[in-house]
Amino acid sequence: MPRGTIQICSQCGLQTPQWLGQCPGCEAWNTLVEERIPVARVAGSGGRRGSSGIRVVGGRGDGPNLAPRLLSEVGAAPVARMGTGIGELDRVLGGGLVPGALVLLGGSPGIGKSTLTNMVLGNLAEAGRRTLYVSGEESAEQVRLRAERLSPGALAVPIFAETDLDTVLHTLAGESPEVCVIDSVQTLNSAELTGAPGSVGQVREVAGRIMELAKARQIAVILVGHVTKDGALAGPRVLEHLVDCVLQFEGERERPYRELRALKNRFGSTNEAGLFEMRQGGLVEVLDASSRFVAEATRAPGSVVLAAMEGSRPLLVEVQALVAPSELEHPRRVVSGLDRNRLALVLAILGRHGHIGTGAADVFVNVVGGMRVDEPGVDLAVALAVASASRGVAIKGPHPPAPRACFGELGLTGELRWVGHPERRLAEAAKHGLKGTIAPTGSGGGACEVGTLRDALAAALPIEARRSARAVA
Ligand code: TYD
Ligand code: MG
Repeated sequence: MPRGTIQICSQCGLQTPQWLGQCPGCEAWNTLVEERIPVARVAGSGGRRGSSGIRVVGGRGDGPNLAPRLLSEVGAAPVARMGTGIGELDRVLGGGLVPGALVLLGGSPGIGKSTLTNMVLGNLAEAGRRTLYVSGEESAEQVRLRAERLSPGALAVPIFAETDLDTVLHTLAGESPEVCVIDSVQTLNSAELTGAPGSVGQVREVAGRIMELAKARQIAVILVGHVTKDGALAGPRVLEHLVDCVLQFEGERERPYRELRALKNRFGSTNEAGLFEMRQGGLVEVLDASSRFVAEATRAPGSVVLAAMEGSRPLLVEVQALVAPSELEHPRRVVSGLDRNRLALVLAILGRHGHIGTGAADVFVNVVGGMRVDEPGVDLAVALAVASASRGVAIKGPHPPAPRACFGELGLTGELRWVGHPERRLAEAAKHGLKGTIAPTGSGGGACEVGTLRDALAAALPIEARRSARAVA
């Protein structure tokens, strides 16, 4: 092991000179992580190092700026943001990139992280900004081949294909771009640490040193990171608290839609989501997603349109269910695009309060288009889709026949609970010609308001289907 590094337990903080499988302090396994010995601690000097690596001068009792100030007296200059030329991304970022801020962009391989960052730098270069693309993963030729498929500006971006951290930092300091992309943080390697590239210690070291430089030079940095099998960014969540903004790029590789979400944002809201489609010329923003999903909705038994909220934006998506007799002792519950536990809960409520039992059936629920819905309003859509599939009848619509939307959260006692932004959801449904949206009491204007799951089923299913439901129960 090179001198100057130490193993620190990420659970109890114990330090040892060499790596051990089990921490002698807390007896946890695989928690020792290699780190550089912090310079200030070794020297025993009075100065501390701030998180940006800039020395915080003065110990106790000296220095001019030690008295606390009122927040109202703290001068805060408005943040100057750089538009990326991609509206959906700017919205998720909270208005554009902030100089000196670190953005971690995570996502599984092939989802389009390199494409998105290539496009961002291309647009910024076209707008006259100084940019730099550091590629540790692909050669310069490979990056060029991709850039050829994107806008002309993408070819105007300087590329540096390198994996050695010190070389990258040296180049970054020399070039001093306004915006830099590191693709990916797992491929860079600090020679001072023995760990393999991508290990916890390496990733933390790489991100930490890049951050020091970025803050000092006011470089906006996008760190591209891979997602492990269990969905964590950059393996452990070590980087999430270090960076200013964590973006997650989601979607299924085989499907065209991609969703960009903010998991953390020091400069904006974490509610926003952006929607993209992967096409031949790169990622295209999807601005009229609702109309597409409504047009594609099948209106067959088991299909329901959900008026969902994606951050502050309403979105109509189709939820489909299939209920089939099971031959297994433990029938299958398969979901795509929503939480599996949520389905279990909805099925229990449906059985108890809607008298629609699925105990002996396999249940499959899918949010169409590879979309993911993570909000409470999805409950009613899942319940109605399963009920409609289970009875084999389509949701009763208005005249002339059209899909019908719904939203609402189900309570354990079978009540339908109010969810946020009903007026925006209803307006979106109305905009796409959907009438009689089934919604919780108190949702207002033009909705078919119901207070319980039972009333919602009564509004959505034809009377014969409900009779057979009662007969079964
Ligand atoms: P990529 O951005 O390299 O993914 P990541 O960096 O997240 O691993 O590319 C993702 C996929 O997108 C790749 O398989 C090819 C495809 N693609 C297109 O369909 N159209 C395009 O214009 C580009 C550039 C890529
Ligand atoms: Mg890539």
